[in-house]
Amino acid sequence: MKAPNTRSDKDFPSHLLPRTAFYGRTFEEYKRMFNLNIEELKNLRILDCPSGPSSFVSESYRKKINVVGCDPMYRYKLNYLLKTGLEDIEMLLEKVASYSDKYNWNFYKSLPHLKKFRELALNRFSKDFVPGIKAGRYHIASLPFLPFKDNTFDITFSANLLFLYDNLYDLDFHLTSILELTRVTSKEIRIFPIQGSDFAISRIFLPIVHLLVRHNLACRIENVEHHFQTGANKMMLITKDYN
Ligand SMILES: C[S@@+](CC[C@H](N)C(=O)[O-])C[C@H]1O[C@@H](n2cnc3c(N)ncnc32)[C@H](O)[C@@H]1O
Repeated sequence: MKAPNTRSDKDFPSHLLPRTAFYGRTFEEYKRMFNLNIEELKNLRILDCPSGPSSFVSESYRKKINVVGCDPMYRYKLNYLLKTGLEDIEMLLEKVASYSDKYNWNFYKSLPHLKKFRELALNRFSKDFVPGIKAGRYHIASLPFLPFKDNTFDITFSANLLFLYDNLYDLDFHLTSILELTRVTSKEIRIFPIQGSDFAISRIFLPIVHLLVRHNLACRIENVEHHFQTGANKMMLITKDYN
């Protein structure tokens, strides 16, 4: 398994990448990335992995939807998370600005509009983080291994880590991580996007599908409403297929 470099912080987990952004979306954006129906979510045990500074956990909690989030960055204190979150918003917005023709501006109307969503997510996350850690809504965890028992969750959502960072995480990491997600999840795993860091379908997507099928897992692709990075409007669904 390829071992990425660490950030400058020497305590950082060795497999965490220097440029995996601590950058989060709101509930509304999760709905669009994963074709979610709020009523159907109400009776499920849900994992958001990685949840980063997204506000999916906190907004779900307010809507009485049972979501647990995990991320290696949760080992840090709120002040550091806020500082990193704000820095990463600036860093990512600069990147989007320099490739703005590669993005669809139908949902986010402009860079300031995009920034508003990112700050909203970070703000909602930060208000919930301290009480949420105590209540068990947030867990420190790092793929490819998670601190949850088998089938703890009915469904898992994994946004903006797998496939997207295929320049930093190799095939072995992806396979081990997805199998770990299937271990802790009884029904279904949804991954968005299936694009890699270069805007094309990830070069490891098809090899991963072949390997998962050999593990008796059923894979399919669905179009989703969310379509910001050009072409990135598809999620992968993985279900346990015992037939
Ligand atoms: C771009 S954020 C995505 C957050 C959220 N899912 C969203 O879409 O808004 C990527 C997150 O992946 C986390 N991450 C990096 N390496 C990880 C690993 N090995 N296991 C789990 N999460 C990891 C980072 O800390 C960061 O919070």
